Amino acid sequence: MKTADIPTFVSHLECSMTGARYEADRVHGLSEVGRPLLVRYDLAALGQAVTKEALAARAGGFWRYREFLPARRSENAVDLGEVTTPLVSLPRLGARLGLAGGEAIVKDEGRLPTGSFKARGLALAVAMAKELGLSHLAMPTAGNAGAALAAYATRAGLRSTVFCPDDAPEVNISEIELQGATVYRVNGLINDCGKIVGDGKATAGWFDVSTLKEPYRIEGKKTMGLELAEQMGWRVPDVIFYPTGGGTGLIGMWKAFAELEAIGWLTGKKPRMVAVQATGCAPIVKAYEEGAEHAPLWENAHTIASGMRVPIAVGDFLILRAVRDSGGFAIAVPDEEILAAREEVARAEGLLLCPEGAATVAAYKRALADGRVGTDEQVVLYNCATGLKYPLPKVTRRLDKNGPIDYAAL
Ligand SMILES: Cc1ncc(COP(=O)(O)O)c(C=O)c1O
Repeated sequence: MKTADIPTFVSHLECSMTGARYEADRVHGLSEVGRPLLVRYDLAALGQAVTKEALAARAGGFWRYREFLPARRSENAVDLGEVTTPLVSLPRLGARLGLAGGEAIVKDEGRLPTGSFKARGLALAVAMAKELGLSHLAMPTAGNAGAALAAYATRAGLRSTVFCPDDAPEVNISEIELQGATVYRVNGLINDCGKIVGDGKATAGWFDVSTLKEPYRIEGKKTMGLELAEQMGWRVPDVIFYPTGGGTGLIGMWKAFAELEAIGWLTGKKPRMVAVQATGCAPIVKAYEEGAEHAPLWENAHTIASGMRVPIAVGDFLILRAVRDSGGFAIAVPDEEILAAREEVARAEGLLLCPEGAATVAAYKRALADGRVGTDEQVVLYNCATGLKYPLPKVTRRLDKNGPIDYAAL
């Protein structure tokens, strides 16, 4: 196992709650106290092994950050043609919002394989599962994570089984199955699906790759932070708005910034991290406002932004810590504002966001209005998936080719 053709600097794994150490190169789920395990690196050695210049010469994709990642053997590093996702500025929206020196930028994760940022976490989780000899992976999903698991597991020659709420976007359910997984619709929410995965482990023999219940999806999500910092010239924006469900992306980016700071690649202030949720499912926002460390189950969770419909998160305290340590905040927006923001950005900028991405725009507008974000600040809004997978407004306008066409009225 230790023979490596990728230089890795993993020293051990650590319980995010108690700090207890766990050995690397072993199959791990949650820690003994039922909390996420975080991968720790010999950062001094990592910092010696790679330079910004060497990195700049590499091709795009997640594995260009290989020193910051846990995989040891390149044969396990499956890829599906990952790209560096673009930063798309929103100048018209900015002008409308009265920005003075500030900028609103979308990081468009919809350009990744399977159309979402879930590719980042699952590429890593699948690579590590392969490296550690696992053969059957299972997960609950709102849709996008299942699609990424299916694609990367199939690519790696592993079996995958996926459970999603029965109202998950149809296209997700179909693509999961087509990309080689077995998918089940469940008459419940994502936490009900998660219970099925957990309860079935012993009998079905699958490995649970639920958000933060294995240590490597977050390492993949870390590439969002590494990539953003590199793209911006090894600096970071003032504020990051992140649509928060299980929170892996937010926690992963915060971990990335800390590691970059430790090796001296990031200096100065880190961004304020803003967790965005929908008012119909806002456990993190409630806990943030109450000053709590944990976020209990949110009853009757509902929102059109299905990726954020996560009533309870195993990494709740990690999300809240990142938000508070960064000087950020958590904010909820109603579905009507999410839909209005999607339409506004699409019509003004020609950029179609997913509802979760649109939620960050709605939250940004609120934060500008109440002064929590300044008009002079640079803000990055995460659009975590392509807008094309979600139900879109119907267009009813028609023309009869056989009748007279009133061109003056068109
Ligand atoms: C499009 C989209 N945005 C945001 C999220 C929430 O991501 P996280 O679990 O990292 O908080 C999801 C998760 O399913 C998603 O699919």
